[in-house]
This record gives sequence, structure tokens and C-alpha cells, in this order.
Amino acid sequence: MNKREFVRSLGGASLGLLFGDDLWARYAALPPRQLAQDEPFWATIRQQYRLTPDYINLENGYYSMQSQPVLEAFIARVREINLQASHYLRTRQYDDKLAVRMRLAAMAGCSHEELIITRNTTESLDTVIAGFDWQPGDEAVMAAQDYGAMLDMFRLQARRHGIANRAVSLPMDPQSDEEIVQLYESAITPKTRLLMVCHMVNITGQILPVAKICDMAHRHGVPVMVDGAHAFAHLEFTIPELRCDYYGASLHKWLGCPLGAGVLYVRRDRIAPLWPIYGDSSVADDDIRKLNHTGTHPVHTDLAINDALDFHQSIGIRRKEARLRYLQHYWTDQVRAHPGITLNTPADPQRSCAIANVGVATMEPAALARTLLERYRIWTVAIDSAGVRGARVTPHLFTTTAELDTLVRALKTLAA
Ligand SMILES: Cc1ncc(COP(=O)(O)O)c(C=O)c1O
Repeated sequence: MNKREFVRSLGGASLGLLFGDDLWARYAALPPRQLAQDEPFWATIRQQYRLTPDYINLENGYYSMQSQPVLEAFIARVREINLQASHYLRTRQYDDKLAVRMRLAAMAGCSHEELIITRNTTESLDTVIAGFDWQPGDEAVMAAQDYGAMLDMFRLQARRHGIANRAVSLPMDPQSDEEIVQLYESAITPKTRLLMVCHMVNITGQILPVAKICDMAHRHGVPVMVDGAHAFAHLEFTIPELRCDYYGASLHKWLGCPLGAGVLYVRRDRIAPLWPIYGDSSVADDDIRKLNHTGTHPVHTDLAINDALDFHQSIGIRRKEARLRYLQHYWTDQVRAHPGITLNTPADPQRSCAIANVGVATMEPAALARTLLERYRIWTVAIDSAGVRGARVTPHLFTTTAELDTLVRALKTLAA
């Protein structure tokens, strides 16, 4: 057991306090995959969230609510900064933000000089795309299953600078990582300047072999930008081990931060060539803070990253990832072979985690999501794009297996 993890505060109450030291010591000694199936443990974690009785929330991919300790700490920060006002902004703000940035960088496994706090993945990745010195005829590689905002940003560069975008289409159940790597490789030409890849595809939950894609792209001299919106604080990894050039993520998704917190990593040697969107003559060209000049902003949101890290690290990423993967397989294993039901998520457990997508043969995606809500009080989101048709189902740490049983019953009834 990691001692630091054990004693780290959980918004004022360590997990030891929550469970009692003896019980927590027993839990902490369990392998994560075993703990993943321990409903009493997760029921206690569930008590850290305030949940609506109106519906079962299985749409935690868009925004993962803050746990109560994080929310209370955040509200206290809002009050304190409102009280201190410009005195705080002119004095402590910079040191406090630097401390958060350093802690976040430690979690990501990189230097804080390669990382900035942004508002979200969109801002992070679009800053990189907009920062390129695009020339007519330049090419970018991506996938049809990538997120719409980034695809739109590349389309904007096509309109503005005359670049060409080449999108591959990802197979759901590849034979091997190499199949995916070769697919991306087939789209690279001597004109390719940037390759974008999702760490976890939002519409299917598919995890892509990012490090292998980066190695391949680098052999062709092509830098790689990773969309980590759904992977950061969901999967156990460090950014450097992915060997990518740029990484963007939203912290209001799996880290459980207040809305409007994100992160951008730019590998040290890639910083200087990027153009910032907003001018800032106070920082050097090779200083990543040049990409962060967005004016006066809600600093309490940035500071609450600290509180979310406390909560996240008190549970531990291994336990979190194992529980989320367990929950997904708890329900998908019961319906994968069921007649009339299609899973739009890889069967290989290493190629997905919390997120999965399910279709019912006789129903349009929108009708499926609507019926799940109206008839069974289950909140999901309809997906109908890039050949993926179904409802995206995203449990979280507070999700119970009993709630997933309700989902399974509903799907089987609708498919009948
Ligand atoms: C894969 C992916 N990339 C980017 C985003 C954009 O995230 P945000 O709206 O927080 O910027 C999302 C949002 O769901 C996403 O799923």
C-alpha cells in the first residue's frame, strides 16, 4: 500500500477516517481487481457524492460531477477569493496556481514547464492546431471517430490555410495494435505535418495504442497530438510514456473538477515553434506560459484541481481504473451476445474501460436513449455518428451494480 495515498486528505477526511483505519488497511491491501468487486467499499465512496433520485446517471462522460468534499472545498475557495478580491489576485494567485500546476505535472509525470492549466480539451488541442504555421498543401491525419470540435478546427485550417485533412476509420475489434498503427501509417504522406489520435474514443470508449502510433509517426518525422479528454485520471499512465508531442485533457471529466478545468502538455522542444493565439511579450518563445494568456479568469476553478487531486489520489488510479472497467464489463458481458443488441465497444478488456456504447436493432439511437430515460429513468446519451449508432453508457465510481442490473433488464426488454 502506498503510504502517501493512505494518509492523503479526502477533503478533510482520509479514507482511514471514512472506513476506520483497520478496515481501510484491509481494503488497501486488496489487489485493485479484487477491490473492484467489493460493493460495500464502493457504497462508502458513493456516499461522497450527492446524487439525484430522479434518474440513474449513466452519462458521466460529458461531465463527471464533483464529489461533495471537492464541491465544498471549491465553494470555500470561491468565497475566500471573493473576500480577498484583487488583493488575492495581485499577491497569492501566481504562487498558488504554480503549486497546482506542479502537482498536476507530477501526476502526469512531466515537468511543470511542459504543462499549463486550460479550460478544457477543446482549448488545449485547438491551441495546438491554431499554433501551427500551416502552409497550403500541408496535411493532417486523424480519424472519423475523433471529437467533432477538433475535426472542425482542422476544417477551419483547411478553409483558412488550404491544408488537406485525411481521416482514417477505426475498426472496432482490431486483430492487433499493429492493425491500428498501420491504418494511421497508410494516411501519412511526405506532406503530413501533424497526426491527431484519441487516447480513448468518446463515442465507443475504444482505447488506442497511442505509444505505438507515436513511434510510427515519429519514424516519418510527424508529431502526434493526443486527445486525452477521456483518458486522463481514468487510466493509469504518464504522458511521457506515451511518447507524444502534445496532450490535451479535460479535468471536469474524470478528475472530477469543477466545470472549466483542463490541461495541455507540450513536449519541451515543441513549445518554441507554436504560435500563441493571444500575444504576450512577457514570456519567451520557448516558455509554455505563452499559450496560457487568456486574461483574468476564475482562479478558484484552477485551485480546486488541488481538491480533486486529493480525492482522486486518496482512492488511487489503479483502484479507480479497475472499478470502472469492472462496472463496464458487469453490464456489457450480460448483453454482448444477446439477440437484437449490438455493442459498439471492443470486446478486449484492455481496449476499453468505463465507457461503452450499446445499440438495440429495432431502435434509432435517439429513441433508445429517450426510452431508457422515460421508461426506466436511466440517463445516457444517443450517439449517431461515424458509423456508431447506439446509446453511450458511462458509469462512475458511485454507480452500483444494482443500477446496472436495471440497465441490463431494460435493454433485454427493449430488444425482445
Ligand atoms: C474525445 C473528446 N475530445 C474532446 C472533448 C471536448 O471536451 P471539452 O468540451 O471539455 O473541451 C470531448 C468531450 O466530450 C471528447 O469526448
